[in-house]
Amino acid sequence: GNCSGWGNEQTLVLVKPDAVQRRLVGDVIQRFERRGFKLVAMKLLQHYQQLCQKPFYPALLAYMMSGPLVAMVWEGYNVVRSTRAMVGDTNSADAKPGTIRGDLSMHVSRNVVHASDSVETAHKEIGFWFQRDELVAWESSDRDFTY
Ligand code: TYD
Repeated sequence: GNCSGWGNEQTLVLVKPDAVQRRLVGDVIQRFERRGFKLVAMKLLQHYQQLCQKPFYPALLAYMMSGPLVAMVWEGYNVVRSTRAMVGDTNSADAKPGTIRGDLSMHVSRNVVHASDSVETAHKEIGFWFQRDELVAWESSDRDFTY
């Protein structure tokens, strides 16, 4: 059996328009797959409801609406914290090499990805971007932890 829900945490990741333009979608996905996280939802979106909650500056909103983005839900043990570590610092100049932003981004205004910053935020953001039936439940063969 599985480890009583320990591996069921989920987080929202957006591959932002600049990264789609630069053909970096696969690079981002591969990092999550290689880490062992499970993809449970994904879609390419061009027109979506305005990102209403945040006090987005006009330039930031224009950037986020400038082209298609890819929204994904990844699942696994401590996936929210692990993803934030994989994404790296908000400011590209401070993002460590090896992180997504540290490897792929030069400037905070084109920082390649968004990732939920807490389990609570992840819950809200997944609800904003996905319908319940868009999340796919599937068993991965390696999910039995033995510690
Ligand atoms: P924030 O939630 O602080 O960072 P993170 O994406 O690491 O969770 O900011 C949201 C986005 O806003 C950030 O990814 C890029 C943009 N942003 C700027 O364009 N300029 C800025 O000075 C900051 C702080 C953020």
